[in-house]
This record gives sequence, C-alpha cells and structure tokens, in this order.
Amino acid sequence: MARIEWDQSLSVGVDLIDDQHKMLIQKLRNIAEAIEKKQATGEIAKTLNFMVDYTDFHFSTEEKYMEEYSYPGRENHIQQHEEFKESLKRLVQDFQEEGATQVLSSSISTFLLNWLIKHIKGIDIGFGEFLREKGFLASSVDCISLDDSR
Ligand SMILES: [Fe+2]
Repeated sequence: MARIEWDQSLSVGVDLIDDQHKMLIQKLRNIAEAIEKKQATGEIAKTLNFMVDYTDFHFSTEEKYMEEYSYPGRENHIQQHEEFKESLKRLVQDFQEEGATQVLSSSISTFLLNWLIKHIKGIDIGFGEFLREKGFLASSVDCISLDDSR
C-alpha cells in the first residue's frame, strides 16, 4: 500500500486547513486499510460515505474563505473541487454496484490520494499563502470539525 500520511510538505500554513487535510488523509488511510483487510462491504461503504461528507465539509470551509476574502483564483479552485466530488461520487456508485473489486480498491486509494496531494501542492498551498497575506485568523467556531463517531 502506498504511504498515506500527512507530512510537512503538505502544509498550507493555515492550521485549520491543515487539520482538515490531515483528517481527509486519515479517512483515506481508513478506506485503504478496510479494503486491504477485506472488511465487509457495508463497513467499507460507511467509511467511504464519511469521506464523501467530510470532503463536502472541507471544500465548503475553503470556499467560504475564498468568498470572504475575494480570492482571485476561486473560480478555478472551486471547479477542481466540483470535479473531485463528481469522481468521488462515481467511485462510491461503482463500489455500491460492484463491491470491493481489486481494480476499484486500488483506484479508490491511489486515485483519491494522488488527487488530494496534487491538489494540496498545486493550489491549496497558494491559497493558504493568500490567506496568510490577508492576515487570516480562523475563529474558534470554524475549528470544530465534523464528528467522527460514525
Ligand atoms: Fe482546495
């Protein structure tokens, strides 16, 4: 399995966003592990669904600040988020129809992970720099993350 870990090279310099990225990567690791351990399809589906919800939550957080701070790159950035959500939805759908096939399993872990890393390094870091230049400070309310009890 590919190493699925957050490291400093992925830091966008804004704790709130870094924490959410850590959580997303943690979710990806859970999915990859569930598949590797051949967990029941229902369990894997649950983990995938949490990933879908958390992705929505995380993208909305970023998009909210793009709006609030009139981030010039927001159109392209939001477009990338939309494409990812579409791909994720398709993967979940395929999974529901076909179960944890080998091909699907590896595309879930590698495609999602590769996309995320590319996205963070490609544009989230730039967005983080922009926020810091604007003197961005997350309020404590924004730091509450989605409850991970499911
Ligand atoms: Fe983003």
